[in-house]
Amino acid sequence: MVGKYFAPSFRAIMILLATGVALYSLRYYGVLVDRWLDVDPKIRTVIAHVPIQALMHMLIAPIALLLGPFQFIPGLRAKYPQAHRWSGRVYVAACVVAGAGGLATSPYASGGPVAGLGFGILAVLWLGTTLGAWRAAVQRQFALHRLLMRFSYAMTFGAVTLRLQIPLGFALGYPTYSAMSVWLAYTSWIPNLIVVALYSIAEALRRPMALATVDGEMTAL
Ligand code: HEM
Repeated sequence: MVGKYFAPSFRAIMILLATGVALYSLRYYGVLVDRWLDVDPKIRTVIAHVPIQALMHMLIAPIALLLGPFQFIPGLRAKYPQAHRWSGRVYVAACVVAGAGGLATSPYASGGPVAGLGFGILAVLWLGTTLGAWRAAVQRQFALHRLLMRFSYAMTFGAVTLRLQIPLGFALGYPTYSAMSVWLAYTSWIPNLIVVALYSIAEALRRPMALATVDGEMTAL
C-alpha cells in the first residue's frame, strides 16, 4: 500500500531534480560561442586543457540524465514500447559519448589526482553497466537488462547527488567546489549504487520471481 504511493512520488522527485540539473548544465552550450555563464574558474581551466573531451561530456551527459527516469515508468513502457526502445538507444549513446568524454577528462579533474581517480572509476563502471544493459536487452535478457539499467542510472543520477552535496561541503568548511571534489568524486555515486543494490536484494527476497520474469514489468525504480 505504502509502496503504491512511494514509487511514483520518489520518481517525481527524481525527474524534478534530474531536469533541474540538466537544464542548468545547458549553460555549457554558451562555451561554444565563448560565453562562460556561471562556470567555475577551475572547470574553465579543465575545459581549456581538454576542450573536446570535456565538452563532449558536459554537453551530452544531460541528455542521459533527462531521459533516464522516463524509461523506468512501467505504464509508459507498456503503452509505448517503441518509444522506450528509441529513447533507450539515445540514452545508451549519450552515456557512451559522455562517459568516454568523462573518462578522458578525469585525469585533468579540478580536484587533482584523487578526484580524477574517483571520476575515472565512475566513468569505467558507467560505460560497462550501460553497454552491458544494452547488450542484455538485445539478447532479450530483460531481467538482467532491468537490473543493469538501474545501476547505470544510479551513476547517471550521481550528477544530481553531487550537486546536492555541494552545500554540505561548504557547511563543512571546504572553500571551493574543487577542494571538496576529492570527496564528491566518490560520495556522489557510491551511496546511489548501495541503495540500488539493497533495493534489488529486498525485491528479490520479497518477490523471488521478479528478477526471473521475461517481461519484467517494473513497479518501482
Ligand atoms: C556518471 C558518470 C560521470 C562521470 C565519470 C563524470 C565525470 C566528470 C568529470 C571528470 C568532470 C570534471 C570535474 C572536475 O574537474 O572537478 C565533470 C564535470 C561535469 N559533469 Fe560529469 N560525470 C558524470 C556524469 C555526469 C552527468 C550525468 C551529467 C549531467 C548533467 C554531468 C555533467 C557535468 C557537468 C555540467 C560538469 C561541469 C562541472 C559542473 O558544472 O559541475 N556529468 N564530470
